[in-house]
Amino acid sequence: MDQTNKSLKKKYQSLISKIEEANHKYYVLDQPTLTDYQYDLYFQELVEIEKLHPEWIQPNSPTQKVGGEVLDHFEKAKHRTPMLSLQNTFSQEEVLAFHERIKKNLNIEKDITYFCEPKLDGLAIELIYENGTLSGALTRGDGQIGENVLSNIKTIRSLPLQLKTPKPPRLLEVRGEVIIPKKDFENLNTKQQEMGQPTFANPRNAAAGTVRQLDSSIAASRPLDMYCYSFGEYNDLDFQAQDEFFSAITKFQLPTLGVSKKIENINIKQPCFITKDIQEVLQYYKHIHQLRHDLPYDIDGVVVKVNEISLQKSLGQVARSPRWAFAIKFKPEQATTVINDIIVQVGRTGALTPVAIMTPTKVAGVTVSQATLHNQSEIDRKDVRKGDTVVIQRAGDVIPEVVEVLRFKRFASRPHGIH
Ligand code: IVH
Repeated sequence: MDQTNKSLKKKYQSLISKIEEANHKYYVLDQPTLTDYQYDLYFQELVEIEKLHPEWIQPNSPTQKVGGEVLDHFEKAKHRTPMLSLQNTFSQEEVLAFHERIKKNLNIEKDITYFCEPKLDGLAIELIYENGTLSGALTRGDGQIGENVLSNIKTIRSLPLQLKTPKPPRLLEVRGEVIIPKKDFENLNTKQQEMGQPTFANPRNAAAGTVRQLDSSIAASRPLDMYCYSFGEYNDLDFQAQDEFFSAITKFQLPTLGVSKKIENINIKQPCFITKDIQEVLQYYKHIHQLRHDLPYDIDGVVVKVNEISLQKSLGQVARSPRWAFAIKFKPEQATTVINDIIVQVGRTGALTPVAIMTPTKVAGVTVSQATLHNQSEIDRKDVRKGDTVVIQRAGDVIPEVVEVLRFKRFASRPHGIH
């Protein structure tokens, strides 16, 4: 290699480092260090060098994140360790019962440390790093066999394509939730509308639909993000507990949710929490329930895990769920409002859907003025009429549904008994 090429290659490598660092600061740490202008200049320079020397292109080059690969299907792949699901609890009593069962199964005297996390409402993905390089990204599938959606996952700005340490592990499987942040979701739906494309019902559907796109440039144009929370197989790493796992992968610049040590310090930047006190687990749930609308992503509950991995191993699993973790789910949020009109909407495919036009009201942090009535038989079953006071609910979806008619209000507002 002559002198000019040598210095150009050096420049190439330094551009990759600069852009990767800027990406990490911007997307993971939320502390931008470059102006957009500077960033674009570096990026253009990088693209130019790669055009001149395609043989230099490194797997961790930020240009590898813009998509472009078009597949005709996704390859199926077996998980080295099955991806399990969580047992759900809905009440304080069930949480206490879980705690008692864990204590009984472990049959130990010492306190159990619990690691508590928000339950992200997206889709689970397993990242596979081989010798530090992101070489696979599998959907959960049936828990045993998933699909490799690597080309789309590579477009996620906050994910490193290459783990940076003196010596990365030979294998590291990291699991987490792919999501679309709430703000980005609203912008995405506006964009979809402007382009005459169908809008998405909620951020989870948008994220799931995006991850399954065969054209990765579509995925690159959508604001996917990911937070990591568990692991499959790994070697060369030494962590004994969930909090140590978080620290270990944070060193690799993998995105995780932040951890608070004290219950009063829990905030949107550090929404995870570690405690030995089951009463604090319950308080944690209440705290996160209150905080949920301020979080930048949708959650549908909290997840509680036994922190110590040796204890997780001795607890094992039952059916397809671990005995060492459980979810405490939120109930769908409800509100009361009045139906001012019932209209019929014609969908893109020509399908007709009755829609209730309501007095705008806030439910689950969003002001809504329409609710789906699904179809005529649903209207008949619930006996929904214009002028009715109704209970509506949002369970993640942007468009809420009518749960029930408050009939006594119907009679109360018509004093002469005419109905
Ligand atoms: S741990 C078996 N942690 O919930 C335990 N899961 O019902 C492995 N999820 O498929 C999962 N947030 O998609 C874990 N902080 C979190 C989570 C979380 C959301 C999802 C995940 C999983 C489902 C289990």
